[in-house]
Amino acid sequence: MIEIHLISPFDSISKSYLNQSMMRIAEEKGLVNFSFYNLFDYADPPHNRIDDYPFGGGHGMILKPEPIFRAVETIQNENDSIDKIIFPSPDGKLFHQKDAEKLVSSKKIIFICGHYKGVDQRVRDKLVTNEYSIGDYVLTGGDLPALVIIDALVRLIPGVLNTIESAEDDSHSNPLLDYPHYTRPEKYKGLKVPEILLSGHHGKIKEWRQKKRLEKTSVRRPDMIKEKN
Ligand code: ADE
Repeated sequence: MIEIHLISPFDSISKSYLNQSMMRIAEEKGLVNFSFYNLFDYADPPHNRIDDYPFGGGHGMILKPEPIFRAVETIQNENDSIDKIIFPSPDGKLFHQKDAEKLVSSKKIIFICGHYKGVDQRVRDKLVTNEYSIGDYVLTGGDLPALVIIDALVRLIPGVLNTIESAEDDSHSNPLLDYPHYTRPEKYKGLKVPEILLSGHHGKIKEWRQKKRLEKTSVRRPDMIKEKN
């Protein structure tokens, strides 16, 4: 069982996603447990401010350190130790499938979802263990990136996917991208399923799929082929 704790000023974003489909099933199976901490609940009354102006000037507001430290301390006080405190950020290390594979062995992970211009650097220096970017573009907050990372790791927990949906064939677990998939009907809008897939010849189907993987990878991600050789 992996415990995942999310700290965010807008925790309902993650609550909604993690309460559906595979994430919900994973939690119902007892393979993962999600907990949510709304940053405003850890701010100082009466104004409950979670952000403030940047020292030294500049545009945008910065998340204050105290509410974040308090939320993390609440989780720390609960019981056993925390393995990872992740801060999604566009200036973090690019998140890869390999990182998801490493995170699966953690027992307790906290995600700190930033918003506005950024977060006080002391949070990053003292609390955060890993900073990940999910791509070279900038989003308005850390909730979607946290969900991307959580989804990628939860589906790797043994027992979350059944064998048919097994993660082994995934584009980024395999050194090549995935092959094309077809289902019924055999013919739709004049488009036919490749004959080979209907042949029942497992050896030939395997060969065809490998050829398609190679073709797709060399067009879309030639870097992945170079990386391998
Ligand atoms: N926060 C805003 N943009 C982000 C990105 N691309 N990756 C991770 N966190 C972010």
